[in-house]
Amino acid sequence: MSVPPRVLTVTPNPALDLTVQAGGWQRGEVNAAQAAQQDAGGKGVNVAALLADWGVSVAATGLLGRDNAAPFETLFREKGVIDEFVRVPGAARVGLKIVDRTRGDTTDLNLPGLTVSARALADLQATLRAPPPGVNVVALCGSLPPGVPTTFYAEEVARLRGQGRFVALDTSGQALHAALHAAVLPQLVKPNIHELEAALGRSLTTEAEVLAAARDLIRRGAELVTVSQGERGALLVTAHEALFARPPRVTVQSTVGAGDAMVAGLISAHLDGLGLQSAARRATAFSAGSITRLGAHLPPHAELDALAAQVQVESADALTH
Ligand SMILES: Nc1ncnc2c1ncn2[C@@H]1O[C@H](COP(=O)(O)OP(=O)(O)OP(=O)(O)O)[C@@H](O)[C@H]1O
Ligand SMILES: [Mg+2]
Repeated sequence: MSVPPRVLTVTPNPALDLTVQAGGWQRGEVNAAQAAQQDAGGKGVNVAALLADWGVSVAATGLLGRDNAAPFETLFREKGVIDEFVRVPGAARVGLKIVDRTRGDTTDLNLPGLTVSARALADLQATLRAPPPGVNVVALCGSLPPGVPTTFYAEEVARLRGQGRFVALDTSGQALHAALHAAVLPQLVKPNIHELEAALGRSLTTEAEVLAAARDLIRRGAELVTVSQGERGALLVTAHEALFARPPRVTVQSTVGAGDAMVAGLISAHLDGLGLQSAARRATAFSAGSITRLGAHLPPHAELDALAAQVQVESADALTH
C-alpha cells in the first residue's frame, strides 16, 4: 500500500525529450549516431519526481498522450510517483535534441504536441475537482497545450483555493498573465524574472522594481512570491519578509529544470512549516543540487544539507537601499 499523496502536481503539457548523440553529423547526409536516450518531462512531472526523491508522497496529473506514455509510466514507477494522468489519444510533444560532441553543439527539433479535446479538458478538470484524498497542496506547472484556454490556471487557482488547498503556480506567457491578473492569486508563485516581466508587461531593471512587483502580488493575495534569476539567485517575498538567496557555485551538468527544483524545494519547505530563511536555503539547495545531475534527480539529503548551509541569504530591503 502506498502512502496517500500530500501533493498533486499538474502538467497539462508534458514533454518527452529524445536525445541523440551524433558526433560530427551532417545535415542532408546519412549519419551514424552513438546513443539515444528518452527522458519523460514537463515541469509538473519534474516537480513530482524531485519531491518523491526528497521523500514526499506525491501524485501527478495532467494530459498524457497514449502513444508515448510508457517512458512517463516508467519514471513514475521508478520514483514512486502516483500516476493520476488522464490518458488521451495521440502523443505527448517530443523534443528531439541532436547532440554533437565533436562540434560541441546541440540542435533542437520540437514537435507539436496534443491538441486537447473538450472531453479531455473536462476529464482533467474533473480530476482537479476531486484530487486524491490527502492532497492539500496542488502545483500547477508549465505551459498549456492548444485547446486549453489561457485562463485555465487562473480558474483552477480560484477553485482550488476555494476548497482550502495551498496552490503553487509555475507557468509563463498568457497563462501566467491571466493568473496574475485574476481576482484570486495562488499562495505560491515562482516566475523567473523574464516570465514576470512578460506577465506584467514591463521591464524590471532594478532589484527595487522586482521587490515592488513581488510586494504588489502579495498585497493582492499571494503568500510567497519567488522571483528566480538564474545563477544570481532568487528573491523571496512574503507579507513580512523579503530575502535574496544566492546559490553556492556548483559544477553544472544541465541548468534545465533549475526552476522546477526550486518549486519542489519551496513546496517541501511549506509542508515542513519552515520559515522564509530556511525555505530560501532549502529551495536554493534543491536547485543547485539538481543542476549537478542530468534529468530531474536530487542529490542525497546530506549533499543538499551541505548546499543549504552554503546559500547566502540577505535582506532584500538592505539590497535595495
Ligand atoms: N548556474 C547556476 N548555478 C547555481 N545555481 C543556479 C544556477 N542556475 C540556476 N540556479 C539556481 O536555480 C534557481 C532557479 O533558476 P532559474 O531562475 O534559471 O529558473 P527557471 O528559469 O525557472 O528554470 P527552468 O524553468 O528552466 O527550470 C536560481 O534561483 C538559482 O538558485
Ligand atoms: Mg521555470
